[in-house]
Amino acid sequence: MSVGLAVRLGSWGELADKASAIRFTVFVDEQKVPAELELDEFDAVSCHALAQVGAAVVGTGRLLPDGHIGRMAVLAGWRGQGVGAALLRALIDEARRRGMARVVLNAQTHALGFYARFGFSPEGGEYEEAGLPHRTMHRAL
Ligand SMILES: CC(C)(COP(=O)(O)OP(=O)(O)OC[C@H]1O[C@@H](n2cnc3c(N)ncnc32)[C@H](O)[C@@H]1OP(=O)(O)O)[C@@H](O)C(=O)NCCC(=O)NCCS
Repeated sequence: MSVGLAVRLGSWGELADKASAIRFTVFVDEQKVPAELELDEFDAVSCHALAQVGAAVVGTGRLLPDGHIGRMAVLAGWRGQGVGAALLRALIDEARRRGMARVVLNAQTHALGFYARFGFSPEGGEYEEAGLPHRTMHRAL
């Protein structure tokens, strides 16, 4: 884990500006997801995680009330340093704290190995979402 890495959780009202800036950089600018798909009605009811290294905001993710984890994004220059792991752990811990029995996510296929390291198993076949190949993964808590 990076020195000085901190993850905080908060509502969309608290974290929208910083979280959406990361998401637009990663999903819209880098991965070419259509901008109109990036923010949705689930943001307002989700718990959001924000990763910072000092003053720099470097990653985000969210937990929906139904146990779906999503919108996991780390800025390209900060990948491979434990930021995604810290975000995922924080969201899993929050799901456990809320008494959820399992967490589920729609993983981009390139990230299957990342989520598998944290105990997620794939279920069902591959499908397309926002123009990118995905598979559903789940983990019991
Ligand atoms: C997927 C993503 C969130 C991972 O974040 P990250 O900060 O690079 O991940 P970490 O450095 O915390 O990696 C944790 C572990 O997973 C491994 N890992 C990271 N990405 C991986 C991948 N794509 N496949 C397999 N293993 C991976 C790391 O090597 C590390 O292993 P270690 O603990 O043995 O060192 C990041 O690559 C990202 O934002 N990608 C672009 C957006 C995206 O595709 N998000 C996923 C949407 S489903």
